[in-house]
Amino acid sequence: MSKKTSAAATSSNSNVTVTDNVSGKESTFPILTGTEGPPVIDIRRLYAETGYFTYDPGFVATGSCESKITYIDGDNGILLHRGYPIEQLAENSDFLEVCYLLLYGELPTSDQKSEFDRAITLHTMLHEQLTNFYRGFRRDAHPMAIMCGVVGALSAFYHDSTDISDPHQRMVASYRMVAKMPTIAGWAYKYSLGQPFIYPRNDLDFAENFLHMMFATPCEDYEINPVIAKAMDRILILHADHEQNASTSTVRLTGSSGANPFACISAGIASLWGPAHGGANEAVLNMLREIGSKENIPNYIKKAKDPDDPFRIMGFGHRVYKNFDPRAKIMRETCHSVLDELDIRDEPLLDLAMELERIALEDEYFVDRKLYPNVDFYSGIIFQALGIPTTMFTVLFAVARTVGWIAQWNEMIEDPSQKIGRPRQLYTGADRRDHIPISERS
Ligand code: CMC
Repeated sequence: MSKKTSAAATSSNSNVTVTDNVSGKESTFPILTGTEGPPVIDIRRLYAETGYFTYDPGFVATGSCESKITYIDGDNGILLHRGYPIEQLAENSDFLEVCYLLLYGELPTSDQKSEFDRAITLHTMLHEQLTNFYRGFRRDAHPMAIMCGVVGALSAFYHDSTDISDPHQRMVASYRMVAKMPTIAGWAYKYSLGQPFIYPRNDLDFAENFLHMMFATPCEDYEINPVIAKAMDRILILHADHEQNASTSTVRLTGSSGANPFACISAGIASLWGPAHGGANEAVLNMLREIGSKENIPNYIKKAKDPDDPFRIMGFGHRVYKNFDPRAKIMRETCHSVLDELDIRDEPLLDLAMELERIALEDEYFVDRKLYPNVDFYSGIIFQALGIPTTMFTVLFAVARTVGWIAQWNEMIEDPSQKIGRPRQLYTGADRRDHIPISERS
């Protein structure tokens, strides 16, 4: 490494030696290896020993924490939760089993599973005073805006689980958030319709309850279609965690200052909302509607390739997956089975999506950059078939991801090496200068 010239590094099995080409000084840094994935250079003493910071906008090569929860091999399209492949979990588990796995590190026994399901079920109701909180929002508020507000406000309603130094309070807060998120989401939808809030039912499972709170009214029950409930459950599993993505890193960074868990999850929801992250599922459907018909696809591909045009094919590309997104593969299959089961023979948006996928996957621009459909490419089409309105798509992502955020937050609090997150910067602003009175400024 050099202040003015290029870096020169040599590595051994256990460390990396960095030579500063200006001073000639050599510094050695240990290499840490995990159970899977590339080794990492431990640069915690870099500044102290060399006087340099590292520069890595977007954290493309920076590990921010040690974690035992989720592993992604982006080159081979592998996603493991606590070691279990996502394909096996999607096939054999239900969402609450995956929640247990993420939170506790092991699959539950049948007694543990019943106990956990029951505990989550008993936490699904919201404090009644929260209904007044909803009424402060405009009816046309985006449900993600409502989610950010209501989840942040939970700390005011459940103050007895905000002491982060108490493991019991942390677990109560964790259960509360996993359990209440579908209720918060369902009510956000009901509020936008002007319909009464629907209370959770203890005889329904997690996915069924969510559908019930979205679609039942006091005048008419919602008849649960097991195919729809199963698809919803699978979608929740596919979104449950994804290691150190933007929203999870936001939750960790927020929590690193000691903020309460409800505030941290609210911050995660805000980060998820962006179209480059969880907001992409809503953006995909809006994009497909805008494209309108297959004849217009080449024009949109051209726009996506134009470096002067900010347009991107939404639902394509991923920071980590450079081969395929395993979640997208399962989502694609689920999409077809849902449309079959619901006897939706002609779904123009699905036809359009498949044609867009076909053309993009053959196009040199997308091939060269390893841009493949991600989880959000198909989820919107399934949500639409399930009768979920577009503005609720990202909300659903948030409902599912809450357990991942919570598991990662708990892991961080319990990590003895945890410190407040505080990145450094490369300052390129003005040098020191003296204040000039306003009358003397030109
Ligand atoms: N359409 C067209 N070009 C793209 C796209 C796209 N969807 N994604 C990336 N590129 C191009 C980009 O312009 C760049 O080209 P060049 O090298 O010529 O400058 C190259 O591919 C690399 O892109 P990048 O922005 O440097 O990659 P990144 O890792 O920073 O971004 C991403 C990853 C997901 C934000 C990006 O691919 C994207 O914006 N995709 C569309 C939004 C989307 O679907 N997001 C959901 C992500 S998956 C669900 C989740 O985790 O939330």
